[in-house]
Amino acid sequence: MQAIQQSGSTHTLCTTYDAYDPIFLKKVLPYIQYIEVTPDTIARALDDRITLNESIINSLLDVLPFVKVIAHGVGLSIGSYDDYSKAYINLLDELIETIPLAWHSEHLGYVRINGQNLNTMLALPRTKEMLDLICARVCLIQDRYKIPFLLENIVHLLPDAPADFSDAQFLNELTKRTGCGLILDVYNLECDSHNHRFDISGFLDELNFSPVKEIHIAGGTEYKGFKLDIHSNIVSDSTIDLTLQILKHPACQVETINYELLPEAVNVLGHDVVCEELKKLSKIFNTPTREFTGISS
Ligand SMILES: [Fe+2]
Ligand SMILES: [Fe+2]
Repeated sequence: MQAIQQSGSTHTLCTTYDAYDPIFLKKVLPYIQYIEVTPDTIARALDDRITLNESIINSLLDVLPFVKVIAHGVGLSIGSYDDYSKAYINLLDELIETIPLAWHSEHLGYVRINGQNLNTMLALPRTKEMLDLICARVCLIQDRYKIPFLLENIVHLLPDAPADFSDAQFLNELTKRTGCGLILDVYNLECDSHNHRFDISGFLDELNFSPVKEIHIAGGTEYKGFKLDIHSNIVSDSTIDLTLQILKHPACQVETINYELLPEAVNVLGHDVVCEELKKLSKIFNTPTREFTGISS
């Protein structure tokens, strides 16, 4: 397989690859420069231990000449009071030993209490105590891997606990103290705006944009009036418009725009719909595209 043409120049595109589907991977290559993989999602039990799915890893190794790989975990639980997940760290160790990562990222939230999995992710109380705890853990993680580490704004499923900081102030302090980067999930902002009347403009006015290295966009659905953070669809116009507005910010240094999709959604939408969506996003955001020879379908 050979890349024979490149166009576009401003930002880059990324999408998710969390299920063994090398045909899909090769079909999206013309539109993406990064591929996101979730260590927890591609983990499996093998001989009494949890390890990464070898077939998925091998298919990623096959396309390494053409894309950079980024890891985006869900199980770290960086905000759990009793420590973050060592099982997730073990998976990340294995991934980083196997595939060179451009950077890795997680969510500013928690998924475990007292070692029990919540089966969902909750936002952190934005207190001084929590900021100290998160900053110490971010520094440990950055020391361990020596590659950039990004944290992402998550949706608020529950009303806020009493806070010492606004959402943007908490992120600004976190990045100032640790030097970590940020993922700005635009769809999550829209969910919060819809569900809790979150003030997106006020948040963006207050946010330091310099650490924002990656933007997440996704398309979801509503259930009983609640906008769900589920990556199941093509991207709505409102999400695209808000992303374009963010990209125009003078301090914006975003490297990649990540169209996130659940593996189940790839199957439901189909390869062609996903590729058409990436093609459309590439035109809108002026990201590079390539033509490949030797791609089988
Ligand atoms: Fe995420
Ligand atoms: Fe996201």
